[in-house]
Amino acid sequence: MEKLTGLKKIKTAVFISGAGSNLKNLIEFSQKKNSPISINLIISNTNKAEGLKYAHKFNIKKKIFCYQNNKVIEKNILIFLKKHKINFICLAGFMKILSSSFINKFNHKIINIHPSLLPKYKGLNTHERAMRNKDKFAGCTVHYVAAKLDSGKIIMQKKIKIAAKDNAISLAKNVLKIEHKLYPEAILKIFG
Ligand code: GAR
Repeated sequence: MEKLTGLKKIKTAVFISGAGSNLKNLIEFSQKKNSPISINLIISNTNKAEGLKYAHKFNIKKKIFCYQNNKVIEKNILIFLKKHKINFICLAGFMKILSSSFINKFNHKIINIHPSLLPKYKGLNTHERAMRNKDKFAGCTVHYVAAKLDSGKIIMQKKIKIAAKDNAISLAKNVLKIEHKLYPEAILKIFG
């Protein structure tokens, strides 16, 4: 990924499907002087995503793309991104899989945060699986998005201990806290 030149921030879209705590965290990070990115668009696949409220709160444009025909939707998303001169995408709890054609057309400038220490626990229910396997550690990963689910090049990871009293819900909360530290750190690492 190219280094940041001058003072211009990289126009970024954040894709969400849910609560949007990572989105809020990225917006707050983007407003700092040392942030290489600005958040210019919020995209969701559902109007039920709670995180959409941050569009209004932070005065950022939002757009909902309801998936029916993936090919058509992805084409429309690409047109919309181009129209808004977006150069970088952060997936933050986006629960749709992007096609390899979309990833290629966007020149691989897409990153994702995943709630496990990849390559362990790709896909869903990561915390339940870590608890079931009696893992000692859990964590999160920021990685480039590749055609194969949760398999792109790893940028950074953060690890925490699983306590004896933890369950999948408390673990999810604890991992989310370190996600909020890791995502900005990984972006700084890419563009720093
Ligand atoms: C986060 O834990 C994120 O890592 C996970 O969804 C949650 C979204 O929370 N993403 C995935 O599972 C992607 N496969 P948020 O909406 O509060 O940011």
